[in-house]
Order: sequence, then C-alpha cells, then structure tokens
Amino acid sequence: MFDSSFNLARDAVRLPYVKEVAEHCAPFYCNDKDLDDFFQNDALFYDTELLGKTYAWVSAENTSTILGLVTLANDSLKLQHLAKSAINRLQRGVPNAKRGINFPAVLIGRLGVASDYRGKGFNIGSQILDFIKDWFRSSENKTGCRFIVVDAYNNPHTLHFYEKNGFKPLYKSEQEEREFLELGDSKPLETRFLFFDLKRQ
Ligand SMILES: CC(C)(COP(=O)(O)OP(=O)(O)OC[C@H]1O[C@@H](n2cnc3c(N)ncnc32)[C@H](O)[C@@H]1OP(=O)(O)O)[C@@H](O)C(=O)NCCC(=O)NCCS
Repeated sequence: MFDSSFNLARDAVRLPYVKEVAEHCAPFYCNDKDLDDFFQNDALFYDTELLGKTYAWVSAENTSTILGLVTLANDSLKLQHLAKSAINRLQRGVPNAKRGINFPAVLIGRLGVASDYRGKGFNIGSQILDFIKDWFRSSENKTGCRFIVVDAYNNPHTLHFYEKNGFKPLYKSEQEEREFLELGDSKPLETRFLFFDLKRQ
C-alpha cells in the first residue's frame, strides 16, 4: 500500500486502456455500478469507435493493479445552446474580441479511482485531474482546448471533489440547471455540468 506521499507520475504508469491492458490487469472496481460496467464492457468499444479514449494508471509496484481510469472525448461548448447566465460565466476570462465564439473543450466522460485507493488520502483522483489539466495546456496538445467539462454526479462527495479541484458549475443553482434542461418537477437532476477554465485556473 502507498502512503500520503503517493505521486501518480512516479508511482504509477499511464497507459492507453486497450485490450492487452484490460486482459493483463485485474478487473477494475470503483464501487459505482454504472462506471464499473462501462469500464468492463464499453470502454474498449468506445476506443475502437473513436467515441472516447480511456487511460489507465497502473501501479508501478504491482503492474496488475489499475489505480484509476478516465475516459476523455472532444467536446464543444456551443453558445447558442446555453443560457445567457451560463455564457456570461464561461466568458468571464476570455478577452472581449473573442467572445461569442464556440469554445473547444475536453469532456471527462468517466472517471473512477479503484475502491481500495480512493478517499484514502492518496489524492489519486485529484492527481488525475492535475495530469489532464497539464496535458491539455501543453504546447504539444494537437488542438486548441479551453475548457475541461464534466457531467458530475449530483451528490455532495463528487461535487466537493471537483470543486476542490477548481471546477465550477455552469449553472449557478440546481433550479437554473433544471429550468435549462426542462426537467420539470418530477425528474431528478442526476448530474451537474461543471467546467474548468484552462487559462484562468
Ligand atoms: C470521485 C473520485 C474519482 C475521487 O477520487 P479520490 O482519489 O478519492 O480523490 P482525492 O483523494 O483526490 O480527493 C478526495 C476528495 O474527494 C471526495 N470524495 C468524492 N467522492 C468520494 C468517495 N466516494 N469516497 C471518499 N471521498 C470522496 C472526498 O470528500 C475528498 O475530499 P477532501 O480531500 O476535502 O476530504 C473517487 O471517489 C471515485 O472513483 N468515486 C466513484 C466514482 C465517481 O463518483 N466518479 C466521478 C463521476 S463524475
């Protein structure tokens, strides 16, 4: 087991999550049924169909242990599909001349940290987010990408995790998000749309 000085770059190896990696490693569980199901049954299909690319962080000391998985996909924030208040929040850090364009983004489609390692002070989830931030800011990034976006589970733990990592809700309140999604009164708001501005934070 690791201690609180766990360093993702040093103590784990990042690999594209392909068939060989899935077969070599023990099954991944983060104790979220939908996520576990996605990583076990759909992630490889998303990869071959170019719908989402999944990356695995495998423990350097035990190479059959996957510590965390994330699925990324290109995204775009199209202003014509957003409420005015959300547009204002997004554009806050963008110079005036460039306001009004659609913004390129990367979507965190799925993110999970293995249940034996999450919430234990190793900060694996936060270090995965730090990696993604650096990766998409890097001069080697092949396309422009201004925001990281995620439909985060609408529960206090998950929202706290993203917010402590600098993500902000696009809609100020649940009510605002519900109205924009036209959910009515009976349907639950299962996710909150969060963004991270790669230039500002
Ligand atoms: C959310 C998740 C990726 C965070 O990973 P992690 O390695 O525990 O995260 P870190 O150690 O960097 O940060 C821990 C923080 O996340 C919060 N957290 C979020 N979900 C948590 C969970 N299920 N258990 C414990 N802590 C959780 C903790 O409150 C903690 O905050 P604190 O440091 O202020 O006490 C991980 O808990 C997980 O895989 N959860 C299940 C799947 C999930 O909800 N994914 C997000 C989908 S949008």
